[in-house]
Amino acid sequence: MDVKKISEIMGPFFETLARDVAAVIQKLGLPPAADILDVGTGDGYSAIILAASGYRVLTGEPATDDSRYAGKNWQERAEKVGVLDRIRSMPFVAEDMPFPDGSFDAVFFFGVLHHIEESLRRETFREAMRVTKDKGTVVFFEPTKEMLPKILLKDPEHPAAACPADYASEFKKCEARLPGTFMDAFIFTKS
Ligand SMILES: C[S@@+](CC[C@H](N)C(=O)[O-])C[C@H]1O[C@@H](n2cnc3c(N)ncnc32)[C@H](O)[C@@H]1O
Repeated sequence: MDVKKISEIMGPFFETLARDVAAVIQKLGLPPAADILDVGTGDGYSAIILAASGYRVLTGEPATDDSRYAGKNWQERAEKVGVLDRIRSMPFVAEDMPFPDGSFDAVFFFGVLHHIEESLRRETFREAMRVTKDKGTVVFFEPTKEMLPKILLKDPEHPAAACPADYASEFKKCEARLPGTFMDAFIFTKS
């Protein structure tokens, strides 16, 4: 992935986000052309980073979400970056995903869990594990302590970062926590 070139299309923000995701990709060692579910499309940063890394991406968000974080025109930028053909999209909710068991090598939540209603997060975690293949991975990226105040300046209503392990219930505890510049990553493996 030519991060500098893609940043010219996506904006300077992209480079920092891509670095946070790249650290996780390096640690996971996913198969080339892995199938990845990107929950919560938003501006499409995570979908585009994953597609530009060579993976096949399915991304989506609830059709009913009319917040400032949904319904963005991410497709135009994905096309400019040259990865639109590696990204499929469809509306869905994380707490009740329309996918068979074991569909994906990895499931990514990039800046998403804290936007999901607290009462739905445990079910969301269970669903993420269900649709992941055995030995596959679920990764939650949540804003770092340093970034949250900056986000709040732009959006005072923004929720606090979530702690994914709080919703892991019957699953193993978080296996790795990778500190990032913008987002910390919490990695869970399906055994
Ligand atoms: C800040 S955006 C995510 C940023 C995005 N991943 C990116 O890289 O640009 C938050 C996303 O969470 C989605 N979301 C909120 N509640 C959800 C739910 N219950 N199920 C799935 N997605 C949800 C929103 O629709 C929105 O797309």
